[in-house]
Amino acid sequence: MKLSVSGRAAAAGVVAAAMLVTGGSVAGASPTAQGAAAAPDIPVAGVKAHLTQLQSIATANGGNRAHGRAGYRASLDYVKAKLDAAGFTTTVQQFTASGRTGYNLIADWPGGDTNQVVMAGSHLDSVSSGPGINDNGSGSAAVLETALAVARAQYKPTKHLRFAWWGAEELGLVGSRHYINSLSAANRSRISGYLNFDMIGSPNPGYFVYDDDPAIEKTFKDYFTGIGVPTEIETEGDGRSDHAPFKSAGVPVGGLFTGASRTKTAAQAAKWGGRAGQAFDRCYHSSCDTTANIDDTALDRNSDALAYAVWELSE
Ligand code: TRP
Ligand code: CA
Ligand code: ZN
Repeated sequence: MKLSVSGRAAAAGVVAAAMLVTGGSVAGASPTAQGAAAAPDIPVAGVKAHLTQLQSIATANGGNRAHGRAGYRASLDYVKAKLDAAGFTTTVQQFTASGRTGYNLIADWPGGDTNQVVMAGSHLDSVSSGPGINDNGSGSAAVLETALAVARAQYKPTKHLRFAWWGAEELGLVGSRHYINSLSAANRSRISGYLNFDMIGSPNPGYFVYDDDPAIEKTFKDYFTGIGVPTEIETEGDGRSDHAPFKSAGVPVGGLFTGASRTKTAAQAAKWGGRAGQAFDRCYHSSCDTTANIDDTALDRNSDALAYAVWELSE
């Protein structure tokens, strides 16, 4: 039986209620029929708490979290400490770009088949002109909170899970390209999918799904269908984020996006709300990309879609 999103959630709810009554296991009513556990609802308050910390880091470091600046390293240290405390195996990968040292952060969740690696990632650097809270604190915080949810659930997927935070995306996808180039051909071929999250809380949001790998695209669309939110294919500068080096290397990719400097049309405002004739993110790459530059509903839905895809694609 293939349960729908709402069906799975409902089934899990029934079991949770039954467990309250029996105080233990539920014979014949497992939510893990076929070995699959339902993805958790990611708490948007947790995602927003990470954004508050990234904002504080920018404010304390000249207003940005850009490559080669103190605010970038402090951002990386913040994310790494959370992951280390949760039981991830973290690796900091160094590279040089524009004469300054850059860093990627890689976090492996122990277990699963390392011949089938599911990756989710986001760029952690901002431009130098602002704190980069939507671009890309939003993706970074949602990937972090999903990783922490994996640890809270003590999730034991069939496949191996790896999360990544890229440096120097804003200089031209430097960190993610460095990572792909650092892998042997054999290790590249072990990555069964890479999911990218860059700008997922735009203040005048659209709901865009990358149309690269059909199976990954369908997984995201299934989630949004289940919550009744229409989506469109992502077209605002295809290949302008960290999935591009993976795709070039032959890795199946997908991702989510809520829009940058493009203008929301009347048709888009009719289906998603918000303001027609205004940019999805009027503060894109500017100093006003602060914690005020986030739509909480978009951030919540996309964080939940992220977790759904991580769970579905790794089971
Ligand atoms: N990657 C761009 C940045 O960081 C933003 C962007 C533009 C984007 N178009 C995109 C991200 C499409 C994902 C998908 O500035
Ligand atoms: Ca949520
Ligand atoms: Zn970005």
